[in-house]
Amino acid sequence: MPIDIVVGAHWGDEGKGRVVDLLSENSDLVARFNGGDNAGHTVTVGEKIFKLHVVPSGMIHPHTIGVLGSGMVLNPHTLLEEMAMLKESAIEITPERLWISDAAHLITPAHRLLDRAQDAALGKEQIGTTGRGIGPTYVDKAARCGLRAGEILDPEYFAERVQAHFARLDHLLSGWYRENGMDVEAQVWDFLEMTNAIRPFIRRIGPLVQNALSERKTILAEGAQGTLLDLEQGTYPFVTSSCTTAAGIFSGLGLGVQPVRSVLGVTKAFHTRVGSGPFPTELDGEMADFLRGSGANPWDEYGTTTGRPRRVGWLDLVLLNYAREVNGLTELFLTKLDVLSGLSAIPVCVAYQTGGRTFRSLDFSGDARQLAKCTPMYETLPGWQEDLRACRKWADLPANARAYVDFIEDHTGLMVKNISVSPERLALIARG
Ligand code: GDP
Ligand code: IMO
Ligand code: MG
Repeated sequence: MPIDIVVGAHWGDEGKGRVVDLLSENSDLVARFNGGDNAGHTVTVGEKIFKLHVVPSGMIHPHTIGVLGSGMVLNPHTLLEEMAMLKESAIEITPERLWISDAAHLITPAHRLLDRAQDAALGKEQIGTTGRGIGPTYVDKAARCGLRAGEILDPEYFAERVQAHFARLDHLLSGWYRENGMDVEAQVWDFLEMTNAIRPFIRRIGPLVQNALSERKTILAEGAQGTLLDLEQGTYPFVTSSCTTAAGIFSGLGLGVQPVRSVLGVTKAFHTRVGSGPFPTELDGEMADFLRGSGANPWDEYGTTTGRPRRVGWLDLVLLNYAREVNGLTELFLTKLDVLSGLSAIPVCVAYQTGGRTFRSLDFSGDARQLAKCTPMYETLPGWQEDLRACRKWADLPANARAYVDFIEDHTGLMVKNISVSPERLALIARG
């Protein structure tokens, strides 16, 4: 059963890039199945820090084949930039190594403009999107007028479709959003040139992935964003526009339901969120500054894609249990335990109170308005002072750090199989 799925258990930025890079050493295919370049996945190898938005994080390992699935929305410009960036580090992304699904949808500069105009128009109800055109591209997909990567293979037809796309969005932007009109001809020309460059990468993915499976190759599916940003199960409307949970992999790769070996939930030792929406355990003041960091370290909590400071708060086990349920998690991978060093006490949210009731699991599907009314109930665990970054074995961890991990296991019923104590590839406690 060679499919392993990695998903974020929070609102994104849990360290999925770091985890996928580690696990892909033993994987053949590494596949993105949702989202687009709203994702920002950091992989640290020695002195090198790679920030990947489109290329699967597992492709830093030279033996892997990368797949960009049909559930994705793809910005050709970002992809080409990323390939050039990787080439500087002698990582070649050739059409033999990267397969783009012909059913993936294309993000255009007009989608980006529309994303920003729409979010700005929401005023104080803003979602705080990454401005990468994600929502409008999925809207076009659902409205059945989107541009699919496979159309690039038929240049004449594609040129007509691109022309019609820019004309339509220009009309919408200048008419409804009062944006300055765009130079449609120039945009069409640039976009066609850019999409030409990705033509050799486009494939029908389903049969290729199916073949790989029948040859007993291992597939690592790399989720983007996190469970609580899922369009259906997340804190709607403060979500992204794709399926970020494990359920997304089959439709997002064009596969039938297959046996899955593991569904690994990546959880930070505390919670973070970028953009708007409810966050029950959110902190401000000194404690928030402590968890976020000043920005001096590469791992401090500033967005990989937008550079925005991330909102931070204590670990929330109600939400982590929700992530377990909606993904069918089989294990946890805990990251950033090292960041908690230096605290004398660490509160962990174990329940919510709302409307005179206390509950330990969500009894509503993430709905933002209901979540905003919840007051977190904490249990406080003793902290530790030691620097964890050199720990490589369970026994190396201070007793209170071990107790923190035990507490997570006891309250979720999931084993924390791996604990990461720095961004570096091998800075890890593997627990078998
Ligand atoms: P992703 O979107 O889930 O891939 O996560 P990001 O890359 O956006 O953000 C996670 C940040 O935490 C990155 O800067 C990682 O290098 C960093 N990171 C991952 N694991 C650890 C860890 O165990 N300790 C520390 N200090 N940083 C980590
Ligand atoms: P990775 O893969 C954190 C958030 C945005 C915003 C909401 C909608 O790095 O974990 P969108 O641009 O998708 O329409 O924005 O989703 N968001 C992320 N937050 N990590 C991400 O990706 C995110 N991708 C989108 O901040 O709140
Ligand atoms: Mg990220």
